[in-house]
Amino acid sequence: MRVLILGGDGYLGWPTAMHFAARGHEAFVVDNYLRRWIARATSSEPLMDNPNLEERVAIFGSLSNHRIGCAIGDCADYRFLERVVREFRPEAIVHYAEQPSAPYSMRGYEEARLTLNNNLNVTFNAIWAVLEHAPECHIIKLGTMGEYGTPDIDIEEGWIEIEHKGRKDTFLFPRQAGSLYHTTKVLDTDLLWFYVRTFGLRVTDLMQGPVYGLSSDECDIDERLLPNFHYDDIFGTVVNRFLVQAVAGVPLTVYGKGGQTRGYLNLRDTLQCIELAATKPPERGELRILNQFTERFSVNELAERVQRVGEQLGLDVEIRSIDNPRKEREEHYYNPVHHGLRELGLKPHLMTDEVLAGMLRHVLRCRGSIDTKKILPRVRWA
Ligand SMILES: NC(=O)c1ccc[n+]([C@@H]2O[C@H](COP(=O)([O-])OP(=O)(O)OC[C@H]3O[C@@H](n4cnc5c(N)ncnc54)[C@H](O)[C@@H]3O)[C@@H](O)[C@H]2O)c1
Repeated sequence: MRVLILGGDGYLGWPTAMHFAARGHEAFVVDNYLRRWIARATSSEPLMDNPNLEERVAIFGSLSNHRIGCAIGDCADYRFLERVVREFRPEAIVHYAEQPSAPYSMRGYEEARLTLNNNLNVTFNAIWAVLEHAPECHIIKLGTMGEYGTPDIDIEEGWIEIEHKGRKDTFLFPRQAGSLYHTTKVLDTDLLWFYVRTFGLRVTDLMQGPVYGLSSDECDIDERLLPNFHYDDIFGTVVNRFLVQAVAGVPLTVYGKGGQTRGYLNLRDTLQCIELAATKPPERGELRILNQFTERFSVNELAERVQRVGEQLGLDVEIRSIDNPRKEREEHYYNPVHHGLRELGLKPHLMTDEVLAGMLRHVLRCRGSIDTKKILPRVRWA
């Protein structure tokens, strides 16, 4: 299969490209280094330096004999993206190329505008490049579980049947995002649904929870092939921030009451989910929505797990609640359905103590590079 990966330099994009190439598919990556640029502009550089995308493609090629095609450019520029699609003729496009930081999108006008323009324009351009040059191509779009927010009812997989005044119909599940970034994902879904129902596109929208982990069959080949690892308040997930705080000997900072519950998944499972979605595509004219996570934790539960495993490794780990910089429910009902990917064949890798210990050992090796000033919240919207 010819797979085009938009955002191929990113945390998920790079492992995805290697994963497909190593399984005999033809992979092509595109990126404009937006994340590297924002990281420098906000002092949010990752813990380890990652070679740039062209260098990583060359390193992977020399170590594995698998070739990955690569172009550096902006997917929000239609002429660029259209040319790539016309020449590569993808059968699947994995669309990761967005500004993915909620705090960055809430930092001020310029950051909000960049997030809105970038994310919607890339989705719009991907749709049009497919319509014009590869109408059979399957778009696999990364959405987020954050699109749904935390409603007081069970969250369905994308769709809900509503009975109203004696009649029934099926609609997109109501969504109420908690940041501008998450709102761009809601708008992406609406845009995709419009083009699916009007022009018969073939789309999978994956509502993904926060991903953790640095290990995959290909990432483990060489340190230079590792994905980016951010631990700052802008790009760092709560898991990464806690791991680094545990190693740095500063308290794990829980935002508010810590009852915020989300569905998480291992990087290895993201790779499985993308491969399953690509190899088992929906029909034309179908918007397939799948909730992509494997287990649920509250922030307090995560902190306690990192503390327990950290202490097993001889670290002294304290947990402290701080003022919540975000506007979100700190205690809430949370019961999202997530059968679809299991039915397609997903075999989950869970967050065991061994997995957390492996990540902590990684961070311990880079202990000297930790800058604890990057971890505490620098953006507030509460
Ligand atoms: N990592 C997670 O935990 C997670 C969870 C849910 C959803 N997602 C979604 O998955 C996708 C990938 O996330 P990630 O963690 O790998 O993020 P990332 O920032 O590491 O990767 C995104 C990549 O896209 C590139 N990019 C952005 N705009 C671009 C443009 N206009 N043209 C070309 N390249 C562009 C960036 O430079 C970056 O390398 C995002 O859409 C994100 O919203 C991620």
